[in-house]
Amino acid sequence: MSIVRSPLRTLLLLFGLSASYLHAQAAPSGAAVFVRCTPCHQANGAGIPGAFPPLAGSSWVTGPVDRPIAILLHGLQGPLTVSGASYNGVMLPYGTGVAMTDAELAAVLTYIRTTWGNRATPVTVADIARVRAKTKGRTKPFSEAELLALR
Ligand code: HEC
Repeated sequence: MSIVRSPLRTLLLLFGLSASYLHAQAAPSGAAVFVRCTPCHQANGAGIPGAFPPLAGSSWVTGPVDRPIAILLHGLQGPLTVSGASYNGVMLPYGTGVAMTDAELAAVLTYIRTTWGNRATPVTVADIARVRAKTKGRTKPFSEAELLALR
């Protein structure tokens, strides 16, 4: 077997695999993380009228970055107006209640702020850490008024 006869090649192969693993750890793909949001917000970001609000064209997504970060970290309790329509549901922290790393949060938020025609600045891991610190100890989901007070 050539893999046995070529220890150097084996070493390079292993090095390449671990390098790509480390790279994947450092920079998760926003599109891949977004799969966790699609049962409710849909792959095209349009949501489901009356139940799940759209992310495409939403000023909650493209406005001050602390707001969507706070929604993901702590959840959201309606009522909430999105693009002129009223919603009165609840979103769990992280959408599913299952925690995400700061890198995953930055990636998914950058994805939703720059997809489906949304044009907003990317979100950094430092942004997530800042809002985590600012909202530390919070145990309740955010209300619309509390989100509007964040900037
Ligand atoms: C189980 C369903 C569900 C999942 C999964 C979910 N959300 Fe939500 N999300 C909601 C609901 C419901 C609301 C609105 C709550 C209300 O009615 O006040 C909402 C609101 C939002 C809002 C603010 C309103 C808007 O439309 O702009 C953002 C931003 C958001 N979600 C982002 C995400 C992201 C990003 C993910 C994936 C990481 C995610 N959500 C996963 C149900 C979900």
